[in-house]
Formats: sequence, structure tokens, C-alpha cells
Amino acid sequence: MKLFLDTANFDEIREVASWGVLDGVTTNPSLCSKETVSFEDNIRRICALTPGPVSAECVSLKADEIVPEARALAGLAPNVAVKIPVGLEGLKATKTLAGEGVAVNMTLVFSAGQALLAAKAGARFVSPFIGRLDDISEDGMALVEEIVEIFGNYRIETEVIVASVRHPRHVIEAARLGADIATVPFAVMGKLVRHPLTDIGIERFLADWRKVKT
Ligand code: G3P
Repeated sequence: MKLFLDTANFDEIREVASWGVLDGVTTNPSLCSKETVSFEDNIRRICALTPGPVSAECVSLKADEIVPEARALAGLAPNVAVKIPVGLEGLKATKTLAGEGVAVNMTLVFSAGQALLAAKAGARFVSPFIGRLDDISEDGMALVEEIVEIFGNYRIETEVIVASVRHPRHVIEAARLGADIATVPFAVMGKLVRHPLTDIGIERFLADWRKVKT
């Protein structure tokens, strides 16, 4: 499974890239609003650092406005994937953009029907938001299971990005279900590597090593 970082913060991306585990990045308007550098400059420098796709989100709502906005975003760097919210206008825009070879990440997906239509329109990625479903007492991971099953049934090549990840268990469950990608906040990425028994084990080994005759 590929691991993307869900952030627009350059320092976080550089840090995780140094761990050797970064496959891509997803941003959204809320994440970009936290950064001080201009949106376009930030996307360009993130793209230069990231080995895989970097999602940048369109804010237009009509297909005839989404398409030129998406073309401009795709022109920022070769590895930009354009995020478009799912909906009728988004589907129309996706059809046009996919025909031009633009990678579309259809976002704000909360049902398998939305994911299926996104794939049929030509989206390269779909992003089910599992944490936000869990937040309203629905089962986010059940949605991932449905989408993975449907895409598998028809050998649909659209990749499933498990988004709105809240904790390491979400990442592990996504991997067990065969999701292609999890996009993970920086704090959760850090939690994936840590375990208290690892820390205790290191402490004990070092304490015992001091007793070894060298
Ligand atoms: O990038 C989209 C998604 O991961 C947002 O997550 O935490 O705002 O629900 P969250």
C-alpha cells in the first residue's frame, strides 16, 4: 500500500520524505489555509520534493470553471493530481480532464455510488473520507470495503485513497482491505512507527549492554 501525507506543510513533507516512506501528498483548502507561503509556490515546492502525486484542490463549482482551474493547477508540475469534489459538475469536468490526461482525485466521497461514478467518469483516484463518517457514528471502513470490492469486481483501475484518517488503526484496516493508498496526517504517521514496548526494549538492551565486557 502506498502512503501519502495529508498536509500542505513543507517541513512535515520533508521530514517524512527523509524516513523513506513518502509516496505522495494530498492537500485541501483547509490545510493550505494554515500555510504562509503562496498556494502556487507551495504546491510547486511540494511537487519538487515528492516522488509521487500531489493533490491540489479546485474551488470552482461549475464544470466550465473547474476545467480551466484544473488545467492551471495541473500546469504547476507534472505530478499534480487535481482534487475535485464529487457531484454532477465535478463528474462532467472529470470526463473532460481525464480525456486530456489530467489526473483527477475525486474527493469528499461518502458513498460507493459516488466512487463508482467517479471511476466511470475517468478519475484516477477516489477519496472516501472515513474519519468524517466515523465522526457521525457511521462506519467509514465499511465504505472502503465496499469500494475496494466493487473496483475489484470490474478490475477498475481507479485507485482508492483512504482519507480523513484519524489514527494508526485506520491505516492498518485500510491495508487489510486492500486499499491502494492511505493519506495520513503527520501526527498519525509518527504514531505508526512508535510502540512503548520498542522504547522499553531499547532501554533494557542499552542497560544490559553497559554490563557486557568489551
Ligand atoms: O485531505 C482530505 C481529508 O483527509 C481531510 O481529513 O481530518 O479534515 O476529515 P479531515
